[in-house]
Amino acid sequence: MTLTFIGHGYVGLVTACVFADFGDEVYILGRTPEKISKLKQGDPLIYEPGLEELLKKNLKEKRIKFTLEFSECIPKSDIVFIAVGTPMSDNGEADLTSIYDVAQKVSTQLKKGYTVVCCKSTVPVGTNKKIYELIEKNILKNKNIKFDVASCPEFLREGSSVNDTFNPDRVVIGTDSKKARETLLELHKPINGKRIITDIASAELIKYASNAMLATKISFANLFAQFAEKSGADVEAIMNAVGLDKRIGRSFLYPGIGFGGSCLPKDVNALIHISKTYGIDPALLESVTKINIESRERFIEKVASNLREGWQICLWGLSFKPNTDDIREAPSIYIIEGLLNKGFKLKVYDPAAQEKVKKIFGDRISYNQDQYSALKDCDALCILSEWNQFKEADFEKIKKDLKSDVIFDGRNIYDPIKMKKMGFKYYSVGRKVL
Ligand code: UDX
Repeated sequence: MTLTFIGHGYVGLVTACVFADFGDEVYILGRTPEKISKLKQGDPLIYEPGLEELLKKNLKEKRIKFTLEFSECIPKSDIVFIAVGTPMSDNGEADLTSIYDVAQKVSTQLKKGYTVVCCKSTVPVGTNKKIYELIEKNILKNKNIKFDVASCPEFLREGSSVNDTFNPDRVVIGTDSKKARETLLELHKPINGKRIITDIASAELIKYASNAMLATKISFANLFAQFAEKSGADVEAIMNAVGLDKRIGRSFLYPGIGFGGSCLPKDVNALIHISKTYGIDPALLESVTKINIESRERFIEKVASNLREGWQICLWGLSFKPNTDDIREAPSIYIIEGLLNKGFKLKVYDPAAQEKVKKIFGDRISYNQDQYSALKDCDALCILSEWNQFKEADFEKIKKDLKSDVIFDGRNIYDPIKMKKMGFKYYSVGRKVL
């Protein structure tokens, strides 16, 4: 099939590369000439394991073409995927400006014959219906143009998005049209995963429900980390036991400094907004967000109350999670600001995200080339994201370089007993300080 992906972020670029790899002819449409020229050279612009190789391979095989022109790709396409951003506006609502802007442009370029317009972006219920109405209104005069709208939300995780797209748990196809459903089922044939065939509104809500559930599990774990800290219990034992219940499962029950990233915080906020427009009580979702914010605030307090003002602290891990350079809504950003406000000096290290953090904090903090040089002249170490190289750290080196042997682990990556034996004062989340 010939496909167009509008947008080349995590969703657009990764999904486009995967379908190109299956032999489809893929156009990727962007709006920034500098970015498109880098993408044409095989630079994916985002840090994502396996993506550069996949992009370069399919560019070489000439299955991927980048363009800035709607007229170059939309008229040739069997399916047009909308994969543009739906960022959070100031009031928490999803900003749909880009969605309607591209839908408008697509409507002027649809070919004679049949096209499926499929939205991959996370959008509030009813958005696809509006996309349909907008396009229908614009093509009214041309009876030769036929189209349908579908919603195929994306569940890929940053850091493992290539693998997630090749091997998803499920493929959700939401459409009221038999022809669109058959076209999308045919396209997805080489991809694993259970098919969920449903209507558009359900597909739109499935994405929000999934992300809200994940966020709720994390905040639930963070709530119980507080119970554990107050009562002398161990949150890990609690979550291990709770997670063994097959109805619940162990994943996403890891407490720490809370969830960040481009999806969970934004989607929970958007859902709060959607709840209000329907007159549904958003109390559960508001609590999830509140607990999330408090998790990083408690971490700042824990550090501040155990160290002296003016001390220097080393931070390992700045991205919102390992294997990405993404710092959108990263807990680290709030923690850096909080610790600076409390008068601490900060030295930081991250394998991928330093350049992005530098754009925010400039010379207010010091950046380091490796994790161990970052420790020099510091009194304490904080772990803010759990990259493997931190999990497998050389503790002798840490002891040698750190002035006081204090570690605040915001991701619970070390064993408290081992840390005690090695002579560290070790603070983690919801586990006893031994
Ligand atoms: C998420 C969803 O998982 C994915 O399905 C959707 O398509 C996009 O949003 P992503 O943002 O890449 O993916 O990250 P995810 O792996 O879900 O982690 C989100 C945040 O939660 C991270 O900051 C992570 O550190 C935190 N987290 C995760 C916890 O604090 N505890 C956990 O138990 C799990």
